[in-house]
Amino acid sequence: VTVYVPCDTTALAVGADAVAETIERTARRKGVALTVIRNGSRGLFWLEPMVEVATDQGRVAYGPVAPDDVEALVEAGLFEGRQTHPLALGPTEAIPYLKRQQRLTFSRIGVTDPLSLEDYRAHQGFAGLARALEMTPQAIVDEVKASGLRGRGGAAFPTGIKWQTVHDEPEGQKYIVCNADEGDSGTFADRLVMECDPYMLIEGMTIAGLAVGATRGYIYLRSEYPLAHRIFNEALERAGEAGYLGDNILGSGRRFDLEVRLGAGAYICGEETSLLDSLEGKRGMVRAKPPLPAIKGLFGRPTVVNNVLSLAAVPFILERGAQAYADYGMGRSRGTVALQLAGNVKRGGLVELAFGITLRELMEDFGGGTRSGRPLKAVQVGGPLGAYLPESQWDNAIDYEGFAAFGGVVGHGGVVMFDDTVDMGDQARFAMEFCSVESCGKCTPCRIGAVRGVEVIDRIRAGTDRDANLELLSDLCDTMVDGSLCAMGGMTPFPVQSVMQHFPDDLQPRPSLTG
Ligand code: NAI
Ligand code: SF4
Repeated sequence: VTVYVPCDTTALAVGADAVAETIERTARRKGVALTVIRNGSRGLFWLEPMVEVATDQGRVAYGPVAPDDVEALVEAGLFEGRQTHPLALGPTEAIPYLKRQQRLTFSRIGVTDPLSLEDYRAHQGFAGLARALEMTPQAIVDEVKASGLRGRGGAAFPTGIKWQTVHDEPEGQKYIVCNADEGDSGTFADRLVMECDPYMLIEGMTIAGLAVGATRGYIYLRSEYPLAHRIFNEALERAGEAGYLGDNILGSGRRFDLEVRLGAGAYICGEETSLLDSLEGKRGMVRAKPPLPAIKGLFGRPTVVNNVLSLAAVPFILERGAQAYADYGMGRSRGTVALQLAGNVKRGGLVELAFGITLRELMEDFGGGTRSGRPLKAVQVGGPLGAYLPESQWDNAIDYEGFAAFGGVVGHGGVVMFDDTVDMGDQARFAMEFCSVESCGKCTPCRIGAVRGVEVIDRIRAGTDRDANLELLSDLCDTMVDGSLCAMGGMTPFPVQSVMQHFPDDLQPRPSLTG
């Protein structure tokens, strides 16, 4: 009997280890020959720990399973894959949340043992790299360009064009830097890649190296992801031993080395230039652009800085061809987007879909509404710098241009839901406070503006010179948008302005503050 129990951070946080142990113990007691595989998570978090059993008809699932459920599940035929217990979910792939998704990048998560090279190869792993090794660097860049892939960290800059810039720089030391400083609220897709399918990122980075002529890569990982760090480092070692990394990749004579570096908890180090400073061992301060990192990046050398998800999309594109990726999506937003449902949501988790789904479909059909059961009031898409969207905007399709048209941000795909008990005035204040804490301090509109922003919002909510302070807040937001050096100060006003525009009632004086 083969049983799968996930081992990503989410599953572990809700007791997956204890469930795995209890299943093993029960099998021993009953004399059942059992293999427990610790797979990654399928990203259906509300069902974790989600246990799967291999049957002749494919895998069947049960969840969420607590250690105390195991005895009854076994009595009800867990080891035979019988589906009579109330926790039985039927064939895994038929669970509607999963079945409706279009998993191109995340096709292997939860399916494979994250560290098994054999599993990875059996599921198309390294096929993209094998193809890239037979192509010229320019042909690889052209393939990525033709796929329409755009930066999944949030800025949506065409990945192939970024690679072209680095490719076109004169030969010499070049670098691939992967931004794994996943700091946006509600996001976890980078973590899932690194914990559940680490070889995919290794493969994507190696292909990027071949494309632009870089022989060295760094993954800048947030220190808050210790498990991702452990799993990924182990994957690096195994990939190196098997010849997928190092000085003679698969006998081709080509070289690529990779290393993980840990951040120290600063949100701003997710901004590419402060990330580079931090990688160089300095305090993470934003650099002025130009020069672009593509021309003068890490240690002053041409550098591709890509998000985990952009690089993770590359193996599929090389293996199946650009068109297979470009066939998905809408308008200029090609391929799929990894949406991460979080906050006050009944069914939180990862939803990978072609661009074009509406927010309402996502939050209702997938998310199932709020966890509290109360009416949904607002949703913040794209991290702490994204606007709060009121109901009138939930029927917009998710794509970069469409969202930008009404002031929304797709960003890294984090979707944080709030029910009607949320105080949007608090949320507006939080945006300014967050910026005041996380600002690198290099430019005035952000460093000082954010502090003044908190004070002005406090005055508005205390009812002090309300109209004048509302006008001041509006001016301050304009100044921060226009005058900040990077997106931190430049986008902090988005959530604030959205509250002023769509939830003005929550900026009324509060009795507790007016005394
Ligand atoms: P940006 O628009 O300045 O740059 C986008 C990327 O394209 C950069 O890597 C830049 O170096 C590159 N680029 C631009 N022109 C180029 C050229 N001609 N050749 C080669 N490369 C070129 O945006 P930025 O500041 O990098 O990112 C802002 C975005 O980050 C925001 O839209 C926000 O959504 C997102 N964000 C993501 C977070 C996360 O946790 N993933 C956190 C905060 C913000
Ligand atoms: Fe630093 Fe803020 Fe200026 Fe960005 S906007 S450079 S975080 S002070």
